[in-house]
Amino acid sequence: MNQTLNMIANRRSTRTYSNQPITAEEKDLILQAVFRAPTAGNMMLYSIIEVEDQALKDQLAHTCDNQPFIAKAPYVLLFLADYQRWYDYYLQSGVEKRCQELNRMPRKPQEGDLILACCDALIAGQTAVLAAESLGIGSCYIGDILENYEIHQKMFSLPPYVIPITLLCFGRSALENPPGKKTPRFEQEFIVSKNFYHRQDAAQLEKMFEPLKQRYFGSGRYTAGAENIGQHYYFKKFISDFSVEMSRSVREMLKNWSG
Ligand SMILES: Cc1cc2nc3c(=O)[nH]c(=O)nc-3n(C[C@H](O)[C@H](O)[C@H](O)COP(=O)(O)O)c2cc1C
Repeated sequence: MNQTLNMIANRRSTRTYSNQPITAEEKDLILQAVFRAPTAGNMMLYSIIEVEDQALKDQLAHTCDNQPFIAKAPYVLLFLADYQRWYDYYLQSGVEKRCQELNRMPRKPQEGDLILACCDALIAGQTAVLAAESLGIGSCYIGDILENYEIHQKMFSLPPYVIPITLLCFGRSALENPPGKKTPRFEQEFIVSKNFYHRQDAAQLEKMFEPLKQRYFGSGRYTAGAENIGQHYYFKKFISDFSVEMSRSVREMLKNWSG
């Protein structure tokens, strides 16, 4: 295994940070790596906000489903899907008038543009994760940034065609040797198929969940009311308050984006 693959194989999310700050040079190295990430049409359909203000970090720790470690992260980056700057530039370039002259139908950013911009923002985010890791700096994604859209929109002055996609916390681990094993993953046979999509039957699904069952539920301790691992995740991740709020918030984003 080469050095890069070894780094990827041993990365794990870091949520407890040492007080050691991330230097300006390290931040710059991370950002310069991000800017070389692949991007749809070479358009860089994303923006990044460096969240430096402690009051903003404190608020994010609250609005992102109450995760206090966000407030303690030495470096926090908000990745945004961004069509605003391109659309502003299109308008500034007289596209509407020219479309009229040429009898072409103008349009505003739509669903396809949004998904493409989301792809760009996430690829940028993961490039930052790997660049940081190569510098010995750990990271953790915060998916809960998708909640509370209206609050985040105000906090960061986001125009309609700019949407929060992910938040990343960076910092060196406070733990010299993080305890425990790496998190388990589903086996390759359940994730990768050849030539067409393979939908798993009941027996395969049971087999797929076996490693998770053994790792987390050896003692059968599911969340209250759940009788098995499927019910556990359904209650905890699917119909829980945070995920219902996430869907409500994303509906608002979509309404704003499509006018
Ligand atoms: C899109 C996305 C959203 C995530 N959101 C959170 C989060 O809000 N809070 C958190 O502690 N970890 C979050 N994580 C980290 C995952 O929990 C973590 O990657 C997973 O448990 C596997 O652990 P590992 O990264 O250590 O291998 C998120 C990861 C991704 C990719």
